Amino acid sequence: MNILLFGKTGQVGWELQRALVPLGKVIAVDVHSTEYCGDFSNPQGVVETVRRIRPDVVVNAAAHTAVDKAESERDYAQLLNATSVEAIAREVGTLGRWLVHYSTDYVFPGSGDKPWRETDEPAPLNVYGETKLAGERAIQRYCPNHLIFRTSWVYASKGNNFAKTMLRLAKDREILSIIDDQYGAPTGAELLADCTAHAIRTVLKKPDVAGLYHLVAAGTTTWYSFAQLVFDEARKEGVALALNSTNPIATEAYPTPAKRPKNSRLNTEKFQREFDLVLPPWELGVKRMLAELFSTAPI
Ligand SMILES: NC(=O)c1ccc[n+]([C@@H]2O[C@H](COP(=O)([O-])OP(=O)(O)OC[C@H]3O[C@@H](n4cnc5c(N)ncnc54)[C@H](OP(=O)(O)O)[C@@H]3O)[C@@H](O)[C@H]2O)c1
Repeated sequence: MNILLFGKTGQVGWELQRALVPLGKVIAVDVHSTEYCGDFSNPQGVVETVRRIRPDVVVNAAAHTAVDKAESERDYAQLLNATSVEAIAREVGTLGRWLVHYSTDYVFPGSGDKPWRETDEPAPLNVYGETKLAGERAIQRYCPNHLIFRTSWVYASKGNNFAKTMLRLAKDREILSIIDDQYGAPTGAELLADCTAHAIRTVLKKPDVAGLYHLVAAGTTTWYSFAQLVFDEARKEGVALALNSTNPIATEAYPTPAKRPKNSRLNTEKFQREFDLVLPPWELGVKRMLAELFSTAPI
């Protein structure tokens, strides 16, 4: 089997390079690739890459993920998250191959406190969410053989994410105020990549499991409680922190260009049932990632 991976250097893309290898030949590209175009600001270029390689499966981990920046560069976010995704979906659909893609909890408005199901109506609060939703819809329209995984609060030891930012800040600052009224599940890029590999194997044997899935680690937390776990683990490992006080704050006390949903809980029953997998508690992967960080280079 030939697999074309877009976005190989992102958090999820990096882990996919590892997890997809046992499935067959992986051709992995990113925005800087020269032999094949992996630049999502060039829809014709990425389509040409699909046309030349004619892979059995295209996995797309590339995206415009800068949520606040997207507010002031809507056209660029749309180009990466929707226009190029649509172009790829049309090509993969025409070839009759498979397309695997990632989307986000930010397609939902964040109301209530129930975990969102795949059948719930999206209503994004920000440009990032709108463009990701447009990408999803293009795939559903033009490429019936697809898997779309909506995930949330992604972290990895490689790349930039909330846990690493908190650690860096805690080394310098004595007091930190952290949002405590947005609820979701931190989800490791490792877990996403491993579940993706398993899902690809499954869908190739059972094509009727194609579709849209919510895929996050189990359990729920807030950014504040997530950060507490990061600080606790750091202290246990003897990491020197300047931090001596943390304040839980409301979303409204920390205005950002992009509005964020308060309820980012995603119901993963459909994924666990169709792929016969059990999603682990979010703390497990975070502790593992932190252990890896503490045992390697200083942050
Ligand atoms: N991160 C999260 O919390 C989160 C939450 C929900 C859903 N997701 C979704 O999960 C997927 C993977 O996200 P991630 O966490 O791995 O994000 P990430 O680490 O930001 O990876 C995205 C990758 O896309 C690349 N990229 C940027 N501009 C590009 C362009 N013009 N052409 C090609 N690639 C380009 C980025 O490169 P540079 O780093 O060089 O810019 C980066 O390598 C995305 O679909 C994202 O929307 C992420």
